[in-house]
Amino acid sequence: MKGHDTALVDVSDEVLAKSKLAITKSLGRIQEKFSQDPKYGYLEGAEVFMSSALKRLTLTTDMKAFVESADIVIESIVENIDAKKKLFAEVDKVAAPKCIFASNTSSLPIAEIASATNRKDRFGGLHFFNPVPVMRLLEVIKTDDTTEGTFNALMKFGTNLGKHCVTCKDTPGFIVNRLLVPYLGEAVHMAERGDATIADIDMAMKHGAAYPMGPFELADFVGLDVVKFILDGWNEKFPDVELFRTSPLLDRLVSEGKLGRKTGEGFYKYDK
Ligand code: 3HC
Repeated sequence: MKGHDTALVDVSDEVLAKSKLAITKSLGRIQEKFSQDPKYGYLEGAEVFMSSALKRLTLTTDMKAFVESADIVIESIVENIDAKKKLFAEVDKVAAPKCIFASNTSSLPIAEIASATNRKDRFGGLHFFNPVPVMRLLEVIKTDDTTEGTFNALMKFGTNLGKHCVTCKDTPGFIVNRLLVPYLGEAVHMAERGDATIADIDMAMKHGAAYPMGPFELADFVGLDVVKFILDGWNEKFPDVELFRTSPLLDRLVSEGKLGRKTGEGFYKYDK
């Protein structure tokens, strides 16, 4: 959307086909808006926007072909430290020396992920928010090894994407998830205790705190597996922090494959 040639690398063509569908749908919403706006040249401008954005995007399972010439690699895989380290160790072997690496992790230490590479100085965090085309925030994370040059390049990259960039030390959850994830967990504990219903808790936070979604709607939107991965990881590392404990209800839904919107059911049911 912002003019960068981009490759989306994933593990299978089946996953990539799903991604293509989601990206086209999302771009379609933006195209629709542009088609009614003189600023973007109505329909003609909207069609040019859509086709040129899609032309700049390659979807592939061949990581090496694109990483060799990339200026930046942003990893956004499963929230598991070993998987991330393994991937970055591989990418590090093929990427050009100038290439900057960033992780979109929402809860794991950037410095530990970076330790799997030989470019700790050109490594940082870029944490985006769902839905990425709409949410204006980007958390830009600097470790003790990230150079000023790398950090400034990441900030510039984020600003050019149209994001409001904030920075935070390499601490669990950075700013947003450190506050948001315990809040989601507390909402689940509240429902488990029977203090209030899921529907009433959501209604309360939407109309009493002016949040666009209640905590259960938001957890379903983010993915219950993601919320559980984050809480489990923190709970293991900080067993004395009560706010990081997970809950039987969340554990059960995840074990049943009810991961929220993406599987058609989480705390609520959705049309697939
Ligand atoms: N792609 C492109 N545009 C989209 C979109 C998408 N996927 N989803 C929504 N939009 C656009 C719509 O076209 C619409 O644009 P307009 O206002 O210019 O017409 C606008 O966004 C609002 O969408 P809708 O009218 O369809 O729906 P809502 O007003 O209900 O908003 C929402 C939907 C933006 C998702 C809103 O409910 C919201 O802000 N929810 C909270 C999201 C949130 O808190 N995200 C952070 C999650 S935490 C996270 O991501 C961190 C991770 O590490 C866990």
